Order: sequence, then structure tokens, then C-alpha cells
Amino acid sequence: MSLQKKDEYDHQGWMKTKDLTPVEKTYLLTLIWLDKRLRIVDYLELLEDLYYKVNLQMPKSHTEQYNLDNKFWYWYPLYALGSFSTIAYVVAAISGALLGFYYSPSTAGDPSAAYNQIVFIMQDLNFGFMLRSLHRWSAQVMVAAVFLHMLRVYFTGAYKEPRELNWILGIILISLTMVFGYTGYLLPWDQLAFWAGQIGVEMSLSIPLAGEWVAQLIFGGFTLTQSTLQRMYILHVFVLPFVVTTLIALHIGIVWMQGIAEPH
Ligand code: HEM
Repeated sequence: MSLQKKDEYDHQGWMKTKDLTPVEKTYLLTLIWLDKRLRIVDYLELLEDLYYKVNLQMPKSHTEQYNLDNKFWYWYPLYALGSFSTIAYVVAAISGALLGFYYSPSTAGDPSAAYNQIVFIMQDLNFGFMLRSLHRWSAQVMVAAVFLHMLRVYFTGAYKEPRELNWILGIILISLTMVFGYTGYLLPWDQLAFWAGQIGVEMSLSIPLAGEWVAQLIFGGFTLTQSTLQRMYILHVFVLPFVVTTLIALHIGIVWMQGIAEPH
């Protein structure tokens, strides 16, 4: 087909719509509709430019640089530990959101109210035991994966310049992962939760000078009450998911910009 043929293009050089498949036509019409209102094509071009600029500065991986493809197994399987942590986090987030449909952080009137919700999930809710197990297991797998990921970063020397920032972000992430675990551990409000909470209060109180203030802030007092459970719940299902998701996105974004480190 000659591109010069007059009758296949209109006066602006656009291909006549009769030549397009229905999918192409829908795509174009949607794009034009959006572009008229939101200047979408300009922004898409900006994004494309940014993508190429960032891609250009990606360092080559060790295998690329020394042309080691297919000759070396190298460390690559270990590089999956960060992705493994991410997958565990996503599974925990989805199963946690579903658990949230059935759990309530209540001790009001009845100190066992929250615990009774857990008993309901485990015994009466269809597949409830599976949902809760999925959540607990993915949480524990995430802690293990993050720890192993940190070891791999340390032993391959990937924390060195220019990746110090991502190492520090990682330290914050592993700490927040543990706070996630702790706040979640208290939610069933069973004996394990109660005494783990008590230890938390005592530990806070042992901080010099600021101890009482910290216990008040985190646990809502010096003994475990409805305020303690309420605070653990909001930290676990509202504050931490937002903060950790943002930090993981930033962490992975930096890996994308810097390229993966060569073992050194
Ligand atoms: C929620 C926890 C975390 C998630 C989801 C996560 C995710 C990731 C992912 C997907 C990568 C790409 C490479 C790979 O898979 O190894 C990566 C790289 C990296 N992570 Fe993490 N990470 C987490 C925690 C940590 C921790 C605890 C540290 C260290 C204190 C850390 C330091 C780094 C560094 C320095 C890199 C760059 C490694 C390289 O270029 O070879 N991360 N992370």
C-alpha cells in the first residue's frame, strides 16, 4: 500500500477511519476525546521523554557488561528476594483487607468482643480459617523475606555508593515491617496479644524521661484498654499500609533508576 495515495488520507494527513479496525478506531476516538479535555497526548509525550532519559542512565548489569549471558548463573536468583518481599506484602494486604470485613477492634461492653470476632472468622465464616491463615503466613513470610533480602544486599555489597539512600529506606522498611507484625499480633486480643501488649507498655515506660509520654501515645495509657486496641488497629490497617506502600514504591523506583548493583 502506497503511503502517498491521496484517497487513503484526509487533508490533515490522518488515515481515513474506514481503514481502521474497530479496536483501533475506539482507541483513537478515546484518545482524541481525552486529549481535547485533558491534553493527554502532551503528557504522554512528556512521560515517554522521561522514560527514555531515565533508561539511558541505567547502568549495565554485570552480565551485560562482561557478556556473561548463559555462562554464569551468578547471584541473580538471590535478587528475587526483594520481589518475594513485595509479593508477600501484596498477599498480606489483600487478605488483610478481606479480614477487615469481619473483624472489629471492640472491647466495649464485652472485653472478649474482638476475640469473639476471631473465633467467628475461624469457626463460622466460610473459608475464614483460610483467609486468616493466609494473612498470618504471608506476614511471617514477609518478615523472613525482608530479612534475607537485607542479608543478600549486605553480602553482595549492594548498599555501597550510590545506593546508601535505598539501604536507609530499607532499614526504615524492615522496622515498619516489624511494627506491622507487632500491631497485628495484638489485634486478636487473646492471651498472647494481651501479654505482648503488656510487655510493649513496660518497654515504653522504661525509656528514660519520655517513657510515660510514649506509653500514652502508643498504647493510650499504662494499662491495656479499648484505647490500646483502637490505636493498634488504626496503625495496622490505616497508617502503616499508606506509609509502607509509599516507601516500597519509592524503594523500587530507586532500584529502577539506579539499576541493579553488581556484586562487589
Ligand atoms: C518491605 C521491605 C522491602 C521490600 C518490599 C524491598 C523490595 C526491593 C526490591 C524489589 C528490590 C530489587 C532487587 C532485589 O529484589 O533484590 C530491592 C533492592 C534493594 N533493597 Fe530492598 N526491599 C525491602 C527491604 C529492604 C531492606 C530491609 C534493605 C536493607 C536495609 C533493603 C535494601 C535494598 C537495596 C540497597 C537495594 C538495591 C540492591 C541492588 O541494587 O542490588 N531493602 N528491594
